[in-house]
Amino acid sequence: GKGNYRHFMEKELHEHPAVLGDTLRQYLDPKTLEVRLPRLPFDPARIPRLTISACGSAFLAGAVGRYWIEQLARLPVDADVASELRYRNPPLVEGGAAILISQSGETADNMAALKLLRQGGQKVLSVVNVPESSMARESDGAVLTVAGPEIGVASTKAFTAQLAVMACLAIGFGRSRRELSTIDEGRLTQALLEVPGNAALVLEKDAQIRELAAEVAKARDVLFLGRGSLYPIALEGALKLKEISYIHAEGYAAGEMKHGPIALIDNLVPVIALCPTGPLFEKTASNLQEAAARGGRIMAFTDADGVGPLSRFAERVIELPKVGDLSAPILHAIAVQLLAYHVAVLKGTDVDQPRNLAKSVTVE
Ligand code: F6R
Repeated sequence: GKGNYRHFMEKELHEHPAVLGDTLRQYLDPKTLEVRLPRLPFDPARIPRLTISACGSAFLAGAVGRYWIEQLARLPVDADVASELRYRNPPLVEGGAAILISQSGETADNMAALKLLRQGGQKVLSVVNVPESSMARESDGAVLTVAGPEIGVASTKAFTAQLAVMACLAIGFGRSRRELSTIDEGRLTQALLEVPGNAALVLEKDAQIRELAAEVAKARDVLFLGRGSLYPIALEGALKLKEISYIHAEGYAAGEMKHGPIALIDNLVPVIALCPTGPLFEKTASNLQEAAARGGRIMAFTDADGVGPLSRFAERVIELPKVGDLSAPILHAIAVQLLAYHVAVLKGTDVDQPRNLAKSVTVE
């Protein structure tokens, strides 16, 4: 049941710290600070290329995974939505591998991608939440997200658990490919082990996020912006908002603003910026400043070091824990999911059963 929560989605949002802890404990050793992956159907050190395939939010977890794997393991990654991959006749490399991501493990387009990838000689690893699902059974290997049953149609805890698994895979691949030292592995593992505690701190921002939701609920259109690994999270924020509040939202790479979307900016369109400090902060901040100069209403999520600089032009700034690049997308994902949840509640929509949507999409 829902316990004391109004909706399954609210309950599942509050399960984030526990689910992230359960998932990370499967693949990280807190004593040795090493990644412990199950036996993989391919050797990450020997594959020339990796293909990631998924649908919806699961694809966005894959898109974040692509940034991480390319950065930490220097392995070329191609990530695509399954409905495109299955029909675009991709030139698959010999000895290549693929990762399929799915909560249900039953999504029709991704099952078709699975067949195509295996026929193309790729070794397929699936990242699934349902161990007995078709995808888990028909793949060459499976890594489980330990999110428990997800009832709300909009994915929340399963999505962040997918991110947690992708982070562990990225570190593991980095080690196998000798791109990361034991010291790097220890440092990254330690940071990931702090994610559950930090997720709880994000949930404590509930009142501030609810205030932001009251502003967003009045809008007809909303933009989400992010750079690097936060770009897919901007897309996730827009997807969740559309899906459960029916407000039109778009996610963009912050650097793409001036190539078109900035024409939409006026004082009616909230711009939700995902802007943690780090090497990309100045770039994103300057994109946001340009939008603010054109009357845009900037609402930013950042960390303690970003609050000062962003407050100079942003209407609202919400501070999340200061973390590294493997954790920031996870924490920002929780923040944008919570935002979409509160907007939907204010709008009075059917949060757990959005119109026209099904939990498991088993038809093309
Ligand atoms: C969005 C959402 C969907 C699913 C997508 C894939 O909130 O829940 O976009 O992520 O339908 O479903 P699975 O992960 O079951 O393959």
